[in-house]
Amino acid sequence: MGRAFVYVILGGGVAAGYAALEFAQRGTAPGELCIISEETVAPYERPALSKGFLLPEAPARLPSFHTCVGSNAQRLTPKWYKEQGIELVLGTRVKSADVKRKTLTTAAGETISYKTLIIATGARALKLEEFGVKGSDAENVCYLRNLADATRLVSIMQSFNGGNAVVIGGGYIGMECAAALVTNRIKVTMVFPEPHCMARLFTPKIADFYEAYYESRGVDFIKGTVLSSFENDSDGKVTAVILRDGTRVPTNMVVVGIGIRPNTSLFEGQLSIEKGGIKVNGRMQTSNASVYAVGDVASFPVKLFGSDIRRLEHVDSARKTARHAVSAIFAPEATSDFDYLPFFYSRVFTLSWQFYGENIGDAIHFGDFLAGRFGAYWINKGRIVGAFLEGGNREEYEAIANAVKLKMMAKDEAEVEKLGVEFASKV
Ligand code: FDA
Ligand code: NAD
Repeated sequence: MGRAFVYVILGGGVAAGYAALEFAQRGTAPGELCIISEETVAPYERPALSKGFLLPEAPARLPSFHTCVGSNAQRLTPKWYKEQGIELVLGTRVKSADVKRKTLTTAAGETISYKTLIIATGARALKLEEFGVKGSDAENVCYLRNLADATRLVSIMQSFNGGNAVVIGGGYIGMECAAALVTNRIKVTMVFPEPHCMARLFTPKIADFYEAYYESRGVDFIKGTVLSSFENDSDGKVTAVILRDGTRVPTNMVVVGIGIRPNTSLFEGQLSIEKGGIKVNGRMQTSNASVYAVGDVASFPVKLFGSDIRRLEHVDSARKTARHAVSAIFAPEATSDFDYLPFFYSRVFTLSWQFYGENIGDAIHFGDFLAGRFGAYWINKGRIVGAFLEGGNREEYEAIANAVKLKMMAKDEAEVEKLGVEFASKV
């Protein structure tokens, strides 16, 4: 027994929401499209979970951040899906897929068939157990990937007054959650293995700025090490984190952000996999012509990088790959290969930065690090390939984005350093 659809989106996250909007705008008929999601709510803007959702005052709550408000587009509530005749199959995990037969089977045993499938399964948070540390299932240890995780994090945060938290990991989740915990008057210690925070993107100089800012807000950093175990009370609650050198950090709660793994497992052995994701072409089409992949789970050719295959873990690429896939499905002739400028951003406390391109080559810093208005260009083979800016305005962010998109020539590094954002404005 089962249902049949023309189009099925597997996964109900950011990419699914933006794909749904594109389907609707292209005139999908009622009953043709179905979205299957393990989550129990309609697609929402996941970035809100580590920002507005964690605020102590007037926190963001659904339905306010359903997609596609993150790009100032329409907010797609469950009512909208109903009006469009788009079937939302929520709280439903797909446990197997057969791309030859074009079927998906849910955990409850239902078979759902499709003519065209869009895989938008995103990623899952890595667990400490995968690094040999036991006990991260304790009731006051949190990961943060979905609404249920965020709801749990908030209730743990509110279960004690003041107190301490240990944040494991110095990446995006670690930095954004540490800031949120501080805003909730919780004293934070961050522990991570690298010599500085945001090691995948920041230079030591950029990281210095943010670490000093966090320290001024009371955050302690323990760098270059990892935890080895948890200490628990008789109820199983974590009371302290024990580091590799034996240091004991007492705590009321722990937040873990140690990276993700794309949810590819349903399709391994059936579709080509590269860079940990499902490999797609410039139309977001996988090695099976009826199957597309978008968002965190997709590895796609980035024209700007000589069509090198990349897998990006950011909301802008989820939104745009999703819309591009639907465009390729509906108007194959009119849709050219995806031409994407990688874009990452973060907002913590009153700070806000944007980054475009890739961080390879020489980093040239500019601006006023003391005043919190600074940035960096990455120059490779005499051209700008990446640009970072903290505290910029819309025109400035547009300028640095353009400089990267156009691979602006930058022969004179001293001039680039001196002109800073103005250099990009010359585009
Ligand atoms: P996403 O994870 O959004 O959705 C995947 C969906 O598939 C989920 O609903 C999941 O339940 C479902 N699913 C998976 N397997 C399934 C199965 N077998 N059956 C049924 N359903 C299944 N990026 C950025 O650029 N700026 C930012 O500020 C932030 N902030 C941020 C905060 C937090 C807390 C997180 C976790 C992530 C971010 N990101 C971000 C990253 C950004 O949110 C991410 O890149 C997108 O959500 C990716 O969108 P996808 O739709 O690919 O996956
Ligand atoms: P991340 O890749 O940004 O950072 C992982 C961090 O884990 C590393 O910086 C490192 O410090 C740490 N780490 C790695 N192995 C460890 C170990 N064994 N023990 C302790 N620490 C270890 O991943 P994340 O911060 O977990 O974020 C998860 C996902 O959410 C990413 O895809 C990220 O892009 C996304 N996200 C993005 C934003 C944003 O773009 N503003 C915000 C939040 C989340």
